[in-house]
Amino acid sequence: MAMRIPEETVNQIRQGTNIVDVVSQYVQLKKSGKNLFGFCPFHEERTPSFSVAEEKQIFHCFSCGRGGNVFTFLMEVDGLSFPEAVIKTAEMSHIQIDNALLENRGQQQETDSKRDKLIQAHEESADLFQHVLLNTKIGESAYQYLLDRGLTKELIETFKIGFAPHERNMLHNYLVGKEYEEDLLSETGLFVQRDNGDLLDRFYNRIMFPIRNQQGKTIAFSGRIFQSEAEEHSGPKYLNSPETYLFNKRNVLFNFDMARATIRRDKEVILFEGFMDVIAAWNSGVKNGVASMGTSLTNEQIHMLDRVTDRVLIAYDGDNAGIEATKRAVDLLSAETPFDIEVASFPEGLDPDEFIKKYGTTAFTELLSHGRDTVFAFKMRYYRKGLNFQNENERLSYLDTILNEMLSITSVIERELYFKQLSSEFDISLDSLNQQFQLLFEGKKAQRIKEKNTTNYGNYEPEPEVYYPEEMPPIEVQTQKRKIDLVEQTERFLLNRLFHFEEAWIQVQSQQAEFYFAHEEYQTLFILFENFKESVGDQDSIDAFIDFVKEPQLKNLLVEIEMLSLSDEIASQEIDDYIDVIARKSVLHERLKEKQTELREASRIGNKDEIRNLTLDIVDISRQLKNK
Ligand code: UTP
Ligand code: MN
Repeated sequence: MAMRIPEETVNQIRQGTNIVDVVSQYVQLKKSGKNLFGFCPFHEERTPSFSVAEEKQIFHCFSCGRGGNVFTFLMEVDGLSFPEAVIKTAEMSHIQIDNALLENRGQQQETDSKRDKLIQAHEESADLFQHVLLNTKIGESAYQYLLDRGLTKELIETFKIGFAPHERNMLHNYLVGKEYEEDLLSETGLFVQRDNGDLLDRFYNRIMFPIRNQQGKTIAFSGRIFQSEAEEHSGPKYLNSPETYLFNKRNVLFNFDMARATIRRDKEVILFEGFMDVIAAWNSGVKNGVASMGTSLTNEQIHMLDRVTDRVLIAYDGDNAGIEATKRAVDLLSAETPFDIEVASFPEGLDPDEFIKKYGTTAFTELLSHGRDTVFAFKMRYYRKGLNFQNENERLSYLDTILNEMLSITSVIERELYFKQLSSEFDISLDSLNQQFQLLFEGKKAQRIKEKNTTNYGNYEPEPEVYYPEEMPPIEVQTQKRKIDLVEQTERFLLNRLFHFEEAWIQVQSQQAEFYFAHEEYQTLFILFENFKESVGDQDSIDAFIDFVKEPQLKNLLVEIEMLSLSDEIASQEIDDYIDVIARKSVLHERLKEKQTELREASRIGNKDEIRNLTLDIVDISRQLKNK
């Protein structure tokens, strides 16, 4: 949705919102002093370092450095664009946005209003189905069935599960009563058309699962067959909405909208096969589960995941179909971006939902956290299915397959482990295994070189990334917290004062020599704030300034500065002192640069005395810079 929301509207929405209300829906906050604290939703942590300053309407994490206003928060936590975050904020604060206010929507407007109506029809249908399930006699047995399966009322409400009863005109009558036009209704996919043109409810005798898009709006349904004993029923176990203007099953992952925050926090998504598995897992406190729509993973779905995480745990059914599906998912996922993939295998052919029912929540979470297989261990099991190891041929071909697979393992230690396993199981020496592996490795390398040389550069396609054992796997760089020296700390203090006190501006501007911050990013913030003040007038609000600063790194810095706790009043010498420290540093920097240029020149012409003097000067200035 390309759109631009007028600044005035953005401001109005920001001002009409309390960031605490929005953040509280994602993070449990506790008041401590002036601020509220909680666990950062952007990473795992043991002590809460995430804080919200209600007065300032900003959030900040002391541990990962992320910070911003309410829009920044929703953009990060839900992966939204700026306009999407603004609209979501408006929705959460029940602020009406006048559609006409949204500029640049032009032609989009008509289609968007159709979209809105289709979504509304779906939302109202979900309400009706849920009402039937929870509050009516015809829904009773379906409700009981769900309770027997271990669902609770709360869970049913969370997922808005409902029931479509036997008669095939309930939904139609209901929506016609709400003045939807037949044309629109026929586009919802919720009806089938009879020969005479009448619309009949597509879903009947089914437990209804709403399918939501990334924004949490219902755009389709999946109905699970449900019949009371007397009735006959035919058709598939799960019936999905057909493809519609709203719904393309390639683009949808069941529960992605609700799981996203946990996926980001835990840095991992869990893939299930069935909706019921996602729901049962959620009930066990595992809230980063999603499922595709009864099909193999699509590229679109993989890219959705790629945007929020690098790690995928596949937790498909333990039956044969599930194991085949796992193999397909592993191949699809590893063909795309290099995800870290692991596999959770359920015993006795159970699916996750059945496993929870049989062995309980603790066994389930235990299996997910400690019973995982690496992709390779999974493949070892996968390839031995149905083989008879008494047969020499089958043994050899298995070994060959496994050694080939091993080519893609980067960790020497992991490879060593599997060598040992194979060696003891097949009674083959480690040496022979290693030799065979080297042969395969050389062969693969030669093949790669050959392929490279015969590549047709006219339509060059990049090779899929494969790490070979001789190459080091990429090392993850831990971002260390930078040490802040006195000058930098002073720059922060000064900017904080500049944000809130006009008198600080006056003092800075009345300097004899032109004043510069010693570090570029502070100078940038300084200039940006000056522009902001000029364009916005005297609006002294940092949460508005956050939207003005576009660069994420700068935003974080800005919030860090705003979070400093300084006294309410400026002390008499305070600003002058700051300027002094910063300016002295800038002067020293200038002088250092000059000396360095001179030194280069002196070295070029080989003036030994000059080199000696300049070097001493430079050492001296550097020492001064370090000391202050
Ligand atoms: P399963 O048959 O494994 O579903 O199909 P389940 O979760 O165990 O269902 P319960 O426990 O019997 O209620 C897994 C997924 O495959 C798709 C659905 O998306 C389902 O969630 N599916 C299955 C279909 O689309 N159509 C079908 O007829 C069956
Ligand atoms: Mn099941």
